[in-house]
Amino acid sequence: METILQAVSLRKSFGPVQALTDASLSIYPGEVAALIGDNGAGKSTLIKILSGAVRADSGSLTINGRSVDLKSYSVTRARSLGVETVYQEQSLGEKQPLWRNVFVGRHICNALGFIDVRREKESTLAMLRTGMGLKGVGISADALVGSLSGGERQGLAISRAMYFDSALTILDEPTTALAVKEVEKVLNFIRSIPEKGRSALFISHNLHHVHEVADRFLFVDHGRIVHECRRRDMSVAELFGKLTELSLAGSPGSPA
Ligand SMILES: Nc1ncnc2c1ncn2[C@@H]1O[C@H](COP(=O)(O)OP(=O)(O)O)[C@@H](O)[C@H]1O
Ligand SMILES: [Mg+2]
Repeated sequence: METILQAVSLRKSFGPVQALTDASLSIYPGEVAALIGDNGAGKSTLIKILSGAVRADSGSLTINGRSVDLKSYSVTRARSLGVETVYQEQSLGEKQPLWRNVFVGRHICNALGFIDVRREKESTLAMLRTGMGLKGVGISADALVGSLSGGERQGLAISRAMYFDSALTILDEPTTALAVKEVEKVLNFIRSIPEKGRSALFISHNLHHVHEVADRFLFVDHGRIVHECRRRDMSVAELFGKLTELSLAGSPGSPA
């Protein structure tokens, strides 16, 4: 079956700590996949490697059928291959106007090579209206990032990934630190990603969110994927059960 991304035997150590021991996973077109596992299992390290933020010690990576050189893989390279990471809201510049924030590092330029501010503003407004369903006369591309709620910021970041036509959008704990009402919005944004045939990979410690949104669950333990399951084959209760089983098996002093 065709994959958007395929990672094989990724390894990563931080000094004596082996964060990834032998991590392999595949992401398919049009799916939402979730990484689940205990604290310290290696989830964040894995997605940082896939997004180009952290370099793997060894392993291989294929994106859209093309083999990627892990030694020169970076966030910029990842983006150019269609892999976009939605960072936590804190990383968005509070005092920046929305349109600047959306196009930072990837401007629309006119024939003379100047930034096309008008088109950048129009596109930003389209993201706010169409992508995020924000309505009302107050909506403007000139509004400051700081004026958006936490959920809206996540939404804008996801809309941005959609605008740049990312094949895979990666999100690490996108609903953490959000008000309850906001969480549902962000979950809806994530759900809408596969409607366009694109895929998402996200981490959440909230198994209810995971079960609501993900088509496939990937269980991470001791730096590798130890189990995979489709939503249709696993209830929320079974999801909880599987995670408990893994953390009990991994804790010191537990029966072998
Ligand atoms: N930059 C780092 N320096 C040292 N150790 C790290 C670093 N990043 C992660 N680790 C360690 O790697 C292991 C896996 O961490 P992480 O990938 O953040 O797990 P998770 O996201 O599943 O909680 C942990 O033991 C963590 O302490
Ligand atoms: Mg983490």
